[in-house]
Amino acid sequence: MTKKILVLPGDGIGPEITEEAVRVLKALELGFEMETALLGGAAVDATGDPYPAATQELAKEADAVLLGAVGGPKWDVLPREQRPEKGLLGIRKHLNLFANLRPAILYPELADASTLKPEVVSGLDILIVRELTGDIYFGQPRGIEIRDGERFGFNTMRYTETEIRRIGRVAFEAARKRGKKLCSVDKMNVLETTQLWRDVMTELAPEYPDVELTHMLADNAAMQLVRAPRQFDVLVTGNMFGDILSDEASMLTGSIGMLPSASLDENNKGLYEPSHGSAPDIAGQGIANPLATILSAAMLLRYTFNLEEAARRVEEAVKKVLAQGLRTADIFAAGTQKVGTKEMGDAVLAAL
Ligand code: IPM
Ligand code: MG
Repeated sequence: MTKKILVLPGDGIGPEITEEAVRVLKALELGFEMETALLGGAAVDATGDPYPAATQELAKEADAVLLGAVGGPKWDVLPREQRPEKGLLGIRKHLNLFANLRPAILYPELADASTLKPEVVSGLDILIVRELTGDIYFGQPRGIEIRDGERFGFNTMRYTETEIRRIGRVAFEAARKRGKKLCSVDKMNVLETTQLWRDVMTELAPEYPDVELTHMLADNAAMQLVRAPRQFDVLVTGNMFGDILSDEASMLTGSIGMLPSASLDENNKGLYEPSHGSAPDIAGQGIANPLATILSAAMLLRYTFNLEEAARRVEEAVKKVLAQGLRTADIFAAGTQKVGTKEMGDAVLAAL
């Protein structure tokens, strides 16, 4: 099997943090072939297209993609088609990466970083499974038009049962390997699309008798996540609710700079990226936290290449540097040692 990894540094802090993750992957000496290409604002500046043809080709050929982050205020003024976010949505759709896994784990060493009380969040370990290629994000028709003499904006929420079933299976399988509890989030009291979502999840449940399926309305789920987050093991939801709830869940841990993510297709080809954004305000200063990207590389080892032991080695190395008291600015607290991006990468390499 080839082991081709396409690296897409992207914008803002993206290049700095992916550099550290690439060093970690290389240090493992597992025979990866790595190439680098443009995505997002960097691609717009160079080619006018946030997901240029050259990147598309390399992405198709690769077994896995490691992404930094895309976007920044500089490009927010461009037409929608040329915005960096369009590049991200483009590669998700092009590679059919329908299953987005977003773990929210509270590292004991970082318990103070959460804005919630320690007794509410200690031991927190949630996995959000977000459908990533459907829903109102991609539904047609959409647009802004003039109707009856005024501007009219519209989008379409839609899901086929096939789309719901395949993300449902990913979520049930994930729950099976963890705490065996799956909570499906919808808004069936108002939206037909999500009534279908609930029906299909319910139909799947008998195939997974060892997993306990519950349902929750999205507004309640948002509330429960801050009220009593440890009631959750795996959450599964559509693209838009998943976008919102995963940001909320990440902040329970207080350190979005620590959280990786994986976006997978049917064959475990995947795109791996930190859950945080491109942080243009601190770009180029060498102070960004590379750990979420390094942990994303661990997910890449686990999900695409089935290299569980190597994945664990990387995760253990990250835990070790935290235990040593090393912190980038975003997770710094009194009594710990503040380090920059590269020093953090060095420490992880040393711990490996
Ligand atoms: C995310 C981001 C993206 C999304 C944006 C940048 C298009 O918020 O990955 O959660 O909405 O999916
Ligand atoms: Mg988001």
